[in-house]
Amino acid sequence: MDDTSLVEIRGLNVDFATDNGTVHALRDVSLSIGRHSVIGLVGESGSGKSTLALALLGLLPDNTQRISGEIAFGGKNLLALDPGELRRLRGTRIAMIFQDPMTALNPVFTLGTQLVDAQRSRHPELGRRELLARAARMLARVGISDPEKRLWAYPHQFSGGMRQRVMIAMALLCEPDILIADEPTTALDVTIEAQIVRLLKELHAEFHGSIVFVSHSLGLISEICDEVAVMYAGKIVESGPVGSLFSRPSHPYTQALLACEIDPADAPGERLVTIPGGLPDLVNVPSGCIFADRCPSRFAKCGEEPPPRPVAPGHAAACWLVP
Ligand SMILES: Nc1ncnc2c1ncn2[C@@H]1O[C@H](COP(=O)(O)OP(=O)(O)O)[C@@H](O)[C@H]1O
Ligand SMILES: [Mg+2]
Repeated sequence: MDDTSLVEIRGLNVDFATDNGTVHALRDVSLSIGRHSVIGLVGESGSGKSTLALALLGLLPDNTQRISGEIAFGGKNLLALDPGELRRLRGTRIAMIFQDPMTALNPVFTLGTQLVDAQRSRHPELGRRELLARAARMLARVGISDPEKRLWAYPHQFSGGMRQRVMIAMALLCEPDILIADEPTTALDVTIEAQIVRLLKELHAEFHGSIVFVSHSLGLISEICDEVAVMYAGKIVESGPVGSLFSRPSHPYTQALLACEIDPADAPGERLVTIPGGLPDLVNVPSGCIFADRCPSRFAKCGEEPPPRPVAPGHAAACWLVP
């Protein structure tokens, strides 16, 4: 692990038990998260982004059948911690913003109470009055007007965009080393989405931590992230610095995702492209390259699984076409 990296994920496998058999949701996933960086996880729905985010948080669902590999963070393997240690980490060093803020906000408590509770394990030395004052300052910082008064409001009194701002405030009050945002703007309209992404970007410049930003939109990723990992069917197929990945997308899946995002305003009359075919079966995972079935460039060698191959410094793609 080099000293610029904060988290080092090595050979992570996650299986879920289902009535139809074992779902191999993540297979041999390795990724470094740099200090004070913003890393994007992108891929179609079902590619394993949320599973990876939940593994980082130690919040995998109950039907998780097997986890193997390593998530090294601060000299510890997160996968080896007991539930109590993980809970402490979540209140202090790792925080999460979910797609639907109502899953994390409790409808029966005021925001003030929830924002105070969120900080308790981080700042056990502070009293309620001080924690409320910190909460109000953070609400102001995320763009909520009249914050002292809003502390007495309930979650349902806020719009979706405002609730997402509250979630960001709640996460940042813990001063986490890692903030995981799993499709935080998907439920919002595009104007609000752009505001929230801009806010996250500004806040990142001010806080010391790293952000893991999960999105199915390469456009949003390019706006906020320094690094990107492209996921497909439980694998990272390409990863690297944003500039390099966007100027030299080297995995056919990344190229297909980019083609899907051509802005209709740039190409009026053009139909939005979708990638033909669907995700492979994750119970009986096919051998060879996982994208081969849908890949327009497949050839005989694709029956063998390609390892990540270097494209440029820090940039690699798991494709035999990379020279
Ligand atoms: N609790 C679960 N039980 C069984 N399968 C699951 C569970 N959670 C996710 N999966 C499956 O794992 C794969 C990855 O899902 P997910 O991580 O949610 O993808 P993404 O966030 O990229 O949409 C999908 O095939 C999904 O159906
Ligand atoms: Mg998801």
